[in-house]
Amino acid sequence: MCGIVGYIGNQKASPILINGLLRLEYRGYDSAGIAVMESGEISVMKDKGRVKNLYNIKGIDDLKGTVGIAHTRWATHGVPSKENSHPHKDNSGEFAVVHNGIIENYSDLKEFLTDKGYKFYSQTDTEVIPNLVHYYYNKDEKDDEQRLLRAVSRVCKDLKGSYAIELIYKNKPDMMIVVRKDSPLVIGKGYKENYISSDIPAILSFTKEFYLIDDNEIAVLTRDNVEFYNSDLEKIEKKIENIDWNATAAEKDGFDDYMLKEIYEQPNAVRETIGSRLPEEGVCIFDDLKFTKEYLSSINKIYIVACGTAMHAGLVGKNIFEKLCRINTEVDVASEFRYRDPIIDDKTLCIYISQSGETADTIAALKLAKSKGAKTLAISNVIGSSITREADYSIYTHAGPEIAVASTKAYTSQVVLMAVLAIYFAETLEQDNVAEIKELKRDILSLPGKVENALKCNKRVAEFARKVFQEKDMFFLGRGVDQTVALEGSLKLKEISYIHSEAYAAGELKHGPIALIEKGITVVGILTDPKLVEKSISNIQEVITRGAKTFIVTNQELLNNNFEMVIRIPEVNPLLSPIVSVIPLQLFAYHISKEKGLDVDKPRNLAKSVTVE
Ligand code: G6P
Repeated sequence: MCGIVGYIGNQKASPILINGLLRLEYRGYDSAGIAVMESGEISVMKDKGRVKNLYNIKGIDDLKGTVGIAHTRWATHGVPSKENSHPHKDNSGEFAVVHNGIIENYSDLKEFLTDKGYKFYSQTDTEVIPNLVHYYYNKDEKDDEQRLLRAVSRVCKDLKGSYAIELIYKNKPDMMIVVRKDSPLVIGKGYKENYISSDIPAILSFTKEFYLIDDNEIAVLTRDNVEFYNSDLEKIEKKIENIDWNATAAEKDGFDDYMLKEIYEQPNAVRETIGSRLPEEGVCIFDDLKFTKEYLSSINKIYIVACGTAMHAGLVGKNIFEKLCRINTEVDVASEFRYRDPIIDDKTLCIYISQSGETADTIAALKLAKSKGAKTLAISNVIGSSITREADYSIYTHAGPEIAVASTKAYTSQVVLMAVLAIYFAETLEQDNVAEIKELKRDILSLPGKVENALKCNKRVAEFARKVFQEKDMFFLGRGVDQTVALEGSLKLKEISYIHSEAYAAGELKHGPIALIEKGITVVGILTDPKLVEKSISNIQEVITRGAKTFIVTNQELLNNNFEMVIRIPEVNPLLSPIVSVIPLQLFAYHISKEKGLDVDKPRNLAKSVTVE
């Protein structure tokens, strides 16, 4: 889980590399480094700490080389330190490598190389790669143009695990080799220059033309050319994808933090997600899905599988699918699903939700379902991401780039997309709930305005956050769909404020956790489902009696108000209410984090995209 950037062209490489790394910090940021071809040598500059620390390294501004590779790290093997930072060179200093992923058999490879006399200077798994390249390169007796390519391909055959690798070789200063397996990597094509990156937005200001590299493919880059090979070193053709995104969409737009910007982008993100899929008249349209009534009728179970916030979106989706389509729907976290031998077959539809489309566990869970004959459908925000290339079908949220580690607009657009998808299923199945669907469609189309309205609570939420930001524990309570949003609110708070919190089904509180309620503790109650509000209020009163301060998010008129703070949000169909009720919870976590003076966008120990297990 790291970010990598590469450049080969005629401009000074180091500023381009650092610029790209800064945009990839969401992938990890405990150390960073670059390697540049510099007058016949490979010059490596790296250090522990954030990417901006690279500017403090003596001599980095003087690098004139126009070919280089770069890396921002999130430690997996070995603590964050200068020695463990990438790039790593082989013992001879001729090869330099950056790597994203995990080499699972690195101990065996290290032993193999140590026996051959190689020495290791870091605790990383990566360091075996440049040394293996050196080993195979020198073992090869044929000294032709393909020698380096052969060595890299041979190394890949030894590697177990996941990797996106960039390699430069001192004696071939005008080329660079990249390869990937289960880790993201794209190539940006310029005029007499080429770029490499872990994702598209990081280099979108340099080019709009991209090659998407698939697993086990190797690319050889020169200034003028990019050649692609499969694992048998047969040349393959790749087409250029034109990515029509606006690079400034990834900037902060005047907000203090990406997270706040992204919270405020939600009305638009929801609008974009709905797009033209939900015409006011007529049936729902999914251009990329060609499901028939016959196929959908054959499905007896839907699995929704995801991690983190995306999994919480899945919990809301489950309610919608079950209600509208009457198909049994289960939700699981990908890291559990992949190892628990789930009961799936060709009558199961597995839906995978992933903002980044690169989450290792979610991808592995998808591959498992495919191997058991299930159909797979990916919901992602990133066009061309790994998960969408693995899945049988893919649909996109179109929420725009999400940079802050804590996910906000991805969640709301994932829920919206599932609601629209469930309607598409129900209509294709010709379910007899036409009136209900018609009303739900109207509700979905009203969501952008309702989310906009909910954002008006910002000041009052900030006021409450100022009162409670020093607390150590909080509770989030709700029933039904409000419980699923309680989970998301609690996760947001943990992620960016480092306050411990628990989300509970309000009715379950008295079966244990109420023992933890004491004077002064903050309890957040979400009360939106009219059928359940009264019951939840009784549970909230139980905590008030025990001295709790209560922060209530509701779309109902609450009489007998002895709550500390009530945030009133617009009313919407209960199936969709998390899209609106999550807004005050996101803002709550945000303001607490700000009050505590924390880095909202880059919380400690977390990364935006978890591309390792
Ligand atoms: C990480 C992020 C979370 C995100 C989860 C799943 O843990 O910090 O914000 O929800 O990964 O990411 P995905 O890209 O698969 O939605």
